Amino acid sequence: MARILLTGGAGYIGSHTYLGLVEAGHEVVILDNFTNARDDVPERLERISGRPATVYRGDVLDRALLDRIFADQAIDGVVHFAALKAVGESVQKPLDYIHTNVGGLLTLLAAMEAAGVRCIVFSSSATVYGDTDIQRIPEDHPRSHTSPYGYTKITGETALEQVAAADARWAVGILRYFNPVGAHRSALIGEDPGDIPNNLMPYIAKVATGELRRINVFGDDYNTPDGTGVRDYIHVEDLAHGHVLSLNALMETGESHAVNLGTGIGSSVLDVIRAYSAACGRDLPYRIVARRQGDVSSVTALPDKARAVLGFEAQKTLDDMCRSSWAWVSGQIANR
Ligand code: WQD
Repeated sequence: MARILLTGGAGYIGSHTYLGLVEAGHEVVILDNFTNARDDVPERLERISGRPATVYRGDVLDRALLDRIFADQAIDGVVHFAALKAVGESVQKPLDYIHTNVGGLLTLLAAMEAAGVRCIVFSSSATVYGDTDIQRIPEDHPRSHTSPYGYTKITGETALEQVAAADARWAVGILRYFNPVGAHRSALIGEDPGDIPNNLMPYIAKVATGELRRINVFGDDYNTPDGTGVRDYIHVEDLAHGHVLSLNALMETGESHAVNLGTGIGSSVLDVIRAYSAACGRDLPYRIVARRQGDVSSVTALPDKARAVLGFEAQKTLDDMCRSSWAWVSGQIANR
């Protein structure tokens, strides 16, 4: 058992990882500024876990607060989620993204070093592979960024690699997510996007609840089986489990790693619409529209290294992902 600080721990992936860590026997402390998390998430986490949640409301850029947390909480390791994560928005607000994502990581690392805490899992993204059209991308694929968001993830990874290479006391886990979707089995937490989601599954979810009229399929002329974009969707609970395995491996071996967290299975936009229609019990309306700028045809993970290094293997299917998402969003509507 260890005491883990989750920065951004009230967010979508952070809250699911919180539950995974608690289930694995760890003590967990959350730091979150709640700019991208509902205020009632800690209360929901307490309801699901049956234990009180220790939560600091604040910003990862606040060095004094970080110093206080490390002094008060005897932290053994950190999982760093706190960051801005919308590719399109990063093009509009590059300085916000660099300040928060790179500045926030550097502030956190300085506070960790000062506290003698040198074990960190870093939330990264397949976006570090750039606009690449490759099935089953290996971790040694060259990194390239096509957005300020991608730049901040590559910069974060590189900084961590430099620290770990220079000081063997550091143990760094870099996790590159593909397309996280779905919700917790309790249907009490899940993805909670803004009014008009950018990402496919939360958009489909809002069409399924009737909040949005129909799904816009961004192009059906890609070089894929049905012409629509193919991605590697991974259930957020599988993703959370990957974080638990990464943290445990770092603490047990002290060896750093960088791995993909994906299934290796590609699903098209129409596959997702079909699966979600089955999950919600009705054919969801959609129309084909123009491609979205910057989209590539097909992106899936080579999942072999995560299996070899962490013993990680995604378990849940696209149907599981859609069913859990539908249970979450339909429950939210019912409880309004
Ligand atoms: C998936 C597919 C779209 C919406 C993004 C970020 C990535 C990561 C995950 C942070 C594509 C199509 C989408 C819609 C559609 N985020 N689509 N209609 O673009 O693969 O990845 O989120 O780390 O960095 O780039 O995810 O869900 O936006 O798109 O047809 O309304 O669905 O063209 O083929 P994406 P997405």
